[in-house]
Parts: sequence; C-alpha cells; structure tokens
Amino acid sequence: MEHIFKAKKITDRVYWVGAIDWSISDFHGYNTNKGTTYNAFLVLAEKVTLIDTVKSYLKDELISRISSIIEPQKIDYIISNHAEMDHSGSLEDLIGISKPEKVFASVAGIKALNEQLHTTYDITPVKSGEKISLGNMNMTFIETKMLHWPDSMFSYLHEEEILFSQDAFGMHLASSELFADEIKDDILHNEGAKYYANILLPFSSLVLKLLVDLPKYDLPLKLVAPDHGPIWRTNKDISKILGLYKFWAEQKMQPKVSIIYDTMWQSTSIMAKAISEGIISEGINTNLLPLSKNHRSDVITEILDSGAIVIGSPTLNNNILPRIADVLTYIRGLKPINKIACAFGSYGWSGESIGILENYLKEMKINIACEGLKVKFVPDVNALERCVEHGRELAKALKVKLNECK
Ligand code: FEO
Repeated sequence: MEHIFKAKKITDRVYWVGAIDWSISDFHGYNTNKGTTYNAFLVLAEKVTLIDTVKSYLKDELISRISSIIEPQKIDYIISNHAEMDHSGSLEDLIGISKPEKVFASVAGIKALNEQLHTTYDITPVKSGEKISLGNMNMTFIETKMLHWPDSMFSYLHEEEILFSQDAFGMHLASSELFADEIKDDILHNEGAKYYANILLPFSSLVLKLLVDLPKYDLPLKLVAPDHGPIWRTNKDISKILGLYKFWAEQKMQPKVSIIYDTMWQSTSIMAKAISEGIISEGINTNLLPLSKNHRSDVITEILDSGAIVIGSPTLNNNILPRIADVLTYIRGLKPINKIACAFGSYGWSGESIGILENYLKEMKINIACEGLKVKFVPDVNALERCVEHGRELAKALKVKLNECK
C-alpha cells in the first residue's frame, strides 16, 4: 500500500495525510450515512511534525500518504490534539515506526492516552498558551476542554496561520474534496449542524466561551483545519462556521416544532398529523419525524433549531415504544436547552405512555407547555379536533416564549 495513497498539499509546508472512511455508518450511535474523514496533518518544518492520527484500521492509508512525502522515520514530533480513538488509534504504530523525538499532548490527553494505550511512552505535556519551536516554525496550543473530551486542544501554526481544531468545526462527511469551498453550502450546513447536534451540543456553554476567548489569542486564521470533514480556507467560510457555532451554541428559541413519534396501529400517527395542523394554523412550521424513517441522530439535528418538541408514543405493555425510548435516552444525553414540549399518544387499556414521556421531559428539564393528550384506540373526529386544539395550544405557548426572547 506504500505508494497508493498520496498526501495532499494544503499550504507550501503543510500536507493532509489523513484517511477517508467511506463505509462507516455508525459513530457511537450517530448515523454517519455520508461517511467521514479522520484528518491528520504533516508539517514540513525543520522538526517534521505530525498532527493527530487516524482510526487503527486505516493506519496503512495514513502511513502511505506520509510516505508519499517523506519517510515516516523522519517525523520528529507528533502532536495529539485529541485522544479519542478515531484520532489516536494509529498513534502507537506511528510512534513505533517513526520513533519521534517528542510526542505532545495536554495533561488530560496524556492521562487518556495512557489509560487507552497502556503504554509507558514519555509524552510531553503542554498547556494553553504554550508555544513550541519546530525549528523554523512555531506552534501554540490552546486547550479546549470538553470540546470534545477533557483532553482536547487546538494547535496553531504561526507561519502558515493554520488552526488545527480537532473535533471542533468538523463534520462527518467523506469527500475527495479537501476544502469547504469545493462543497455545496447546503451539505456543509446540514452536516455541520448534524455534527454539532450529535457531538458538541452538551458542551454549548464551553463553545460560547471558546468563541469569546479565541480572538484574545490574536491569531490570524488563514485555514481552520478540523479532524473531520473539509478544511475552511476562505474568510467567508471561516466566518460562516464561526457564526454557525455561535447560533447553534446559543440555542435561542426558534419558531419551529419537531413532532417526534412512533406508532403501533397508526392512531398515534394520525394524532401527530392533526397536532401538526393545529400548530401550522397558528403560523408555526412543523416537522413530522416518524421514527420508522428518522434516525436518532437526525432527530436531534432537527431539535437543534426547534423551539418546541412534541413527543408521541402509544402505550405498549404499560410502557412506551422502544424506538421512542431510544431517541429520548439519546436526546437526554445531549441536553438541549430552551425548548418547550408536550406529549401525546393513543392507548387501549391503561395509557401509561403519556406519564412516561412527561417524566423524560422533566428529567431533561424541558418545560411541559400543555397537558399530555391521550386518545383511546382509534381517534374519531372529536378526538382529532382535540389534537388540532392541542397543537394550537402548544403553538400559542411557543409564540409567548418567542416574544419573551425578543
Ligand atoms: Fe473525532 Fe472526539 O473524536
């Protein structure tokens, strides 16, 4: 494989040497139906420096790309910006092959790498604001704890004005194009939002802090190079992704309702459609997300810019349907804020689903805007009118909240 995969030049002295994972479809519960990349970068400074590695099963691709530029044995330094295995999975192999003079990571990164790799390799700790010399070039580190793990940090290459941002500003998108300006805007927006919603949403307050702190380092940005997906290289694109991160992290209430439901004999499905009619009649857009065709990672992406969510499940065996439990468990972990919600569902005998759904909402600290609506067996016209009214009530509550937020 040595001569198959080639490095791609991103500036005169920096090359992309990562791997493209066209076939991955599940990334710890996130449906990566567009694949992904694990970006690694080779800096041809006097001290040749590799930034991050790739998943273990793609290490030959990484080594091949490096070998197309230099012998891997010539790598002097390796920087581990993030210890998660999609970026550290080949680290041990690279250390073994290149025997670098130094490996750098944050203090938390060293701990995580030691606990994962069980090695005694001597890793040099670095901290926020610390600058190291690569001989004729310089690298500064910025710790970004919890974006995405406690160890995470950015590296900034002064002479090329590149911010290597590991998970932040990335997306799961396999592509032969390396730069964001070579990819359609709607794809960048949708996949960027999906990545944010599924990976970074729980850490939104830290994202907002980072967006305030980053300019204080006074680092001109020619390129922002994340560890997944395309590299941002124009001022317009860099401003756009920074602006989108602010928008997603603020989670300001938006005039949109996501109706998330599963159904057994179509009764809960009909209720969902009638509730949607009530919401639309109040001038608010809705998005119906039946779980028969919407993956949990797409549901949370829709929730990202929804001001309200409506959750529906019939009662099955005194409980809720399993796909709804799956989605609610996933949403609970991602901790969306600034939403209102309500629950609905059909039932045959006991009708516990509403209470169970509302308990999830309470655990998530999502404000329940109106009393849960349950309908026995198949809804008749009167029941559907109650559903329409239920939708109206929620939409009115959302409009009040939206006015309060102005
Ligand atoms: Fe791409 Fe948190 O790893």
